[in-house]
Amino acid sequence: MRMTVIGTGYVGVVHAACMADIGHDVLGVDIDEERIAALTAGHAPIYEPGLNALLARTVKSGRLRFSTSTTEATRFARLHFVCVGTPQVPGGEAADIRHVDAAVDGMAPHLQPGSLIVGKSTVPVGTTARLAARLRAVAPHSEIAWNPEFLREGFAVADTRRPERIVVGVESRRAEATLRAIYKPMLISGVPFFSTDPATAELVKVASNAFLATKISFINAMAEVCDATGADVVTLAEAVGQDSRIGHRFLQPGLGFGGSCFPKDIRAFAARAEELGVGDTMAFLHQVDEINTRQRRRTVDLARNLVGGSFTDRHIAVLGAAFKPESDDVRDSPALDVAAAIRRLGAEVRVHDPEAVDNARRKYPGLQYTLDVPKACEDADLVLHLTAWPEYREISPAELGPVVRSRKILDARDTLDAASWQSAGWTLSALGRPRISGAYAA
Ligand code: UDX
Repeated sequence: MRMTVIGTGYVGVVHAACMADIGHDVLGVDIDEERIAALTAGHAPIYEPGLNALLARTVKSGRLRFSTSTTEATRFARLHFVCVGTPQVPGGEAADIRHVDAAVDGMAPHLQPGSLIVGKSTVPVGTTARLAARLRAVAPHSEIAWNPEFLREGFAVADTRRPERIVVGVESRRAEATLRAIYKPMLISGVPFFSTDPATAELVKVASNAFLATKISFINAMAEVCDATGADVVTLAEAVGQDSRIGHRFLQPGLGFGGSCFPKDIRAFAARAEELGVGDTMAFLHQVDEINTRQRRRTVDLARNLVGGSFTDRHIAVLGAAFKPESDDVRDSPALDVAAAIRRLGAEVRVHDPEAVDNARRKYPGLQYTLDVPKACEDADLVLHLTAWPEYREISPAELGPVVRSRKILDARDTLDAASWQSAGWTLSALGRPRISGAYAA
């Protein structure tokens, strides 16, 4: 089937390549000429396992092409996926859906009769209905549906190839049939398919993200209770997660969530709920957000205490800059937020990250960066573990000991093996683990 993918950001580029890979004829469209030139040469604009190979393969096969022209898009196909960004509005909490509106409005007058626009961006509930009304006025023989995307960074290709569910919000049997046909290879392999109204489809996405963010903030709230009571949040999370109704995933305590989705999506959902008159019901999302950002402040405060109450003239080593492991993305990164705050408070901060250093440097040029863990830790008064890259669990505390000025480490991700650090002479502190941190006298 022929289709276009409008917007070649994270979701768009992965969707376009995966659709071409399962045999569709795909035109990726973006206004960014540089990006289109790179994509045409088969280069992925982001670090994502498997994406470069997939792009190279599908571009070479001729099933995936790129263009900057909307007119070419509407000439090329009658099926258009809209994958443009929906950031937070500047200075506000709501979602900025300007790019979605512009993509639809740009295509509408040129659509071939019988076209189907399928939105994949995360949007406030009600967006499809609003756009459908606009489309009817300009292109009465075309329609719009919503098909949210659930991919995780770092697993984008795998998640798109084998999603846990496909959700489509449609207004007609014809739109449903088209989407079933598109996703046929996935449906044959047993992926659950939900065909529903557009509002439900839009809500499935925001509800999923809100639930996961709530789960993380819940365990981080429990970490604070642990700090006040001498309990241990890691053991607590393991035992609580053993209940199959709760589960272990997204119950990892620590510095909290960041990235381009959770923080903005829960804020946008709360803002939309207010508009809809159900703000009180969703008010807990403000609390989820506040608990999340409080972990960053708690980490800064704890770090300051560990270096004697002031950061002036202190060297702080930071392990991790990406918002999560296996990613080079630093958008709303809790780790960089903490690193920058500590620098503002007077410390010299040296940051290590295996993948995100270039992106981090562009965002926070005032911090120092290195690709070498011992170099980051040289003469450090304190080491901060802020992103849970697996390789940080492989560090030898005994070998790192002689490098630092003071053998102190703050594990703000609660994933390091406390005993091995302590037996190598380190003082290890961790969020929600007061006994291990030596901060609880029974
Ligand atoms: C998320 C959703 O998972 C995905 O379905 C949606 O499409 C986009 O948003 P992503 O932002 O890639 O994906 O990251 P994810 O792996 O979900 O992690 C989000 C944040 O939560 C990260 O900062 C991570 O470090 C943090 N996290 C995750 C925790 O702090 N604790 C956990 O237990 C799990």
